[in-house]
Amino acid sequence: MPEISKSTVVGATPEGASDQRSAARAVREMFTSIAPRYDLLNHVLSFNIDRMWWRRTARAFANITTRSDARILDLCCGTGDMTFALRRQAGKSAAQILGADFSHAMLQRATAKSGAANGVAPRWIEADALNLPFPSAHFDLVTSAFGFRNLADYDAGLREIVRVLRPGGECGILDFGEPKGMMGQLYRIYFKQILPRVGTMISGVRGPYAYLPASVERFPEPEEMLTRMRQAGFAEVSWTPYTFGIAGLYRGRK
Ligand SMILES: C[S@@+](CC[C@H](N)C(=O)[O-])C[C@H]1O[C@@H](n2cnc3c(N)ncnc32)[C@H](O)[C@@H]1O
Repeated sequence: MPEISKSTVVGATPEGASDQRSAARAVREMFTSIAPRYDLLNHVLSFNIDRMWWRRTARAFANITTRSDARILDLCCGTGDMTFALRRQAGKSAAQILGADFSHAMLQRATAKSGAANGVAPRWIEADALNLPFPSAHFDLVTSAFGFRNLADYDAGLREIVRVLRPGGECGILDFGEPKGMMGQLYRIYFKQILPRVGTMISGVRGPYAYLPASVERFPEPEEMLTRMRQAGFAEVSWTPYTFGIAGLYRGRK
């Protein structure tokens, strides 16, 4: 696998963004604008498959979540569904589970949902994934579901995850992919034609659901993403496709 140039920044570039700072601001404003309808939209647009993906990701790290001394960070947690899946997987273990996001409105929804959740609620923190307010070598597991793709600089995001992980700690990035073959063709019609229209109709906001397919198209293919993970300092990297590769889980160990 060829080296990837470290001087070229690759990351999310929402329409109108001219640099990393404006890209991050546009992403934050976008998610803040859809926060009230985010959960409904997620479940409708994914036909509820999203719940299965979060559960499956949480299960993949049961070796960590069930440890009572584990420290777990769910990055770009949004309204918290991945974080809650980790909490449920942790069962009775006293693992500390923390959800972080830079959209206050998304975290407000997560907090509201915490009240209704059974057992130990996760904690929530407003923070930028590219500049985390945690010491180095602090967490046993860092996850991110459908959030990593929105970072303005993927390599900086990976380096920051490596920094906050303990040696031997694990990372799980769940995000969309682009399925190949016949399934891919059908999926692209849905993702590019139908989803943006339905998303705009339900949310009442135009931008975010046109940005979604564009951001998935820009996101590195699995082989490239695995190379970036290795370059950031991860070992044992892998990608497991979920549902024909519509989504997939990247894993790596520090
Ligand atoms: C598509 S949502 C995913 C939310 C949740 N993880 C889920 O699976 O439903 C992406 C989230 O990433 C957050 N996000 C994007 N860039 C971020 C950054 N640099 N730092 C923190 N959060 C970020 C957004 O605010 C948004 O809540």
